[in-house]
Amino acid sequence: MTPRWLRTDSRIEYGADYNPEQWPREVWDDDVRAMREAGVTIVSLAIFSWARIEPADGRYDFAWLDEVMDLLHANGISVDLATATASPPPWLTTAHPEILPVNHEGQILWQGGRQHWRPTSPVFREYALRLVRTMAQRYADHPALVAWHVSNELGCHNIYDYSDDAAQAFRVWLRNRYGTVEALNEAWGTAFWAQRYGEWDEILPPRLAASFPNPTQQFDFKRFSSDVLKDYLRAEREILRELTPDVPVTTNFMVMGETKGMNYADWAAEVDFVSNDHYRLPGAQSLDELSFSANLTGNLAGGRPWFLMEHSTSAVNWQPVNLAKRPGELSRDALTHVAHGADAVCYFQWRQSRAGAEKYHSGMVPHAGTDSQLFRDVVALGSRLRELSYVQGRRRTPAKAAILFDWESWWASEQDSHPTELLKYKQEALDWYTTFLDLGVRVDVLPASASFDGYDLIVAPILHVMPSSLASRLTSFVEGGGHLVATYFSGIVDENDHIWLGGYPGPLRDLLGVRIEEFAPLLEGDTVALSDGLEGTLWSDRIDLIDPATEVLATYKTGDYAGRPAVTRRAAGAGSASYVSTKLAPNALAPLLKDLAGRAGVVSELPSELRGRVELTVREGVRFVVNRTDEQLDISSLGGPETTLAARGVAVLPA
Ligand code: GAL
Repeated sequence: MTPRWLRTDSRIEYGADYNPEQWPREVWDDDVRAMREAGVTIVSLAIFSWARIEPADGRYDFAWLDEVMDLLHANGISVDLATATASPPPWLTTAHPEILPVNHEGQILWQGGRQHWRPTSPVFREYALRLVRTMAQRYADHPALVAWHVSNELGCHNIYDYSDDAAQAFRVWLRNRYGTVEALNEAWGTAFWAQRYGEWDEILPPRLAASFPNPTQQFDFKRFSSDVLKDYLRAEREILRELTPDVPVTTNFMVMGETKGMNYADWAAEVDFVSNDHYRLPGAQSLDELSFSANLTGNLAGGRPWFLMEHSTSAVNWQPVNLAKRPGELSRDALTHVAHGADAVCYFQWRQSRAGAEKYHSGMVPHAGTDSQLFRDVVALGSRLRELSYVQGRRRTPAKAAILFDWESWWASEQDSHPTELLKYKQEALDWYTTFLDLGVRVDVLPASASFDGYDLIVAPILHVMPSSLASRLTSFVEGGGHLVATYFSGIVDENDHIWLGGYPGPLRDLLGVRIEEFAPLLEGDTVALSDGLEGTLWSDRIDLIDPATEVLATYKTGDYAGRPAVTRRAAGAGSASYVSTKLAPNALAPLLKDLAGRAGVVSELPSELRGRVELTVREGVRFVVNRTDEQLDISSLGGPETTLAARGVAVLPA
């Protein structure tokens, strides 16, 4: 699919989800007045409007939406129009309760919340696609329409559905993947625990079972669940393409936190431009996680600009404790996304709701109204974004180092019945990312399926699922002069979740020059001492060197494998392959990464006094410098027009 943006003139779009149906008509005029004051250029409309647009089966009420569309257009505000299918109305679930999802315990997820539909329900699809067609026909020529917003956060609440519809569709998906029941039996290893299937109809989703459900069944169900929603996205998109071929189509991804059900590396090519929603999580790595997600989103978009569809001006409503943003954070968070390639900065939502489950979720206009610090900050950000219009359209400039990110390894490495339940895939990747930030070294978070060309250093944290094709790509990377760093529990299984035999990590053994007979995970809170005063947690491996030229960078001093190698490096041609067999504590990760990056020729582009204190990103000729600290910094050494950087501030400088 050729990527398309929503218009040709340069500006960074600014706006929010707009839910006028929650407000009386007179508020709409206040809304557009305040939107103009804030510099809003675009809103996402009709996301949860199905019940209002189609109040009864086949009866439509578009008068209000026509009026909103016209009002926005008259005020120079464009619309990213939702297809309105995100949440089905009560009349539909009453008439057709068979569209309601079922969880793995067999419980029905009823109406009353949102997104209560089965991704595989043919009945839901019929009603939803009828609505998509009706919306597209009605607004095809509306001058405010600049993009289509398919559904909303596909899979946020309904990614895993275990209903009979899902069972039926799962069998079809499995037939396409395996062709015969015998091939499925082989892939699923059903010789174990008398699980052999004789007929397709005997196969079910991994519903609540007496013991651990078959691991490959679980893994395939995750693949299937991501695929069926991707298929649903395509179904809506095809109708939109047919009726409005010139209007780009997107849907908002959720590259954030522990949201992992949708394989966005596999979805990214399905949309005309990538959109993402991101909300900060509390904790010491909160800002790093924002940067990590924005970085990954930019690389899902292939380095092209993308659309930040939602984030928050301040608190959200769905965490155990919802922190308000501190002064400066509203702007810094938004600009960190821009630094990673976002050409649109939007919020959930325009006006904070009075009622409903999200009434304590911040918006651009808070309950206090426009006479508030928050709204003044919103206006200030709008004017900053206008000044940054020249950035629009500039691609991310790739770094020399990359951290590989792989949804299948995320899914498979955290399944049950494993050596430890404590392993957290995303956390390991994030810890490496934080270390790069601390060292002031630019790094890309790269889908494992992307090209490795141009990178000198690749870190592969817990790259657990290793089809031979991926092992060959990594081997070629190293043979071509690249430097690879792999961690514990990488290269353990093939695409069917079968162990690579003969010693771990099967397909990477020769490349790394190590062979592992056994792993010994650590109990929570336990540590293992390494040479040089370094410390590991979570994991340890019993390593033998199989190539005498493999260098030992650290050994275990305590634990089950005291005296054996813990961190190794094998030179291979002009490149190298290193292996880290434990979860290094932050103070151990930094010196190791510094050494390995240095040996790969990957260095910081920042002056030493700013390393770790700011994050540097580059978009074709423009440097973004994000203050990671709560202090004002002297940035005169960067040679730009600005010499100081406010606490939590962002400077934008020529490269
Ligand atoms: C997203 C969703 C929005 C709103 C927001 C609150 O999941 O798309 O509709 O609920 O979160 O943070």
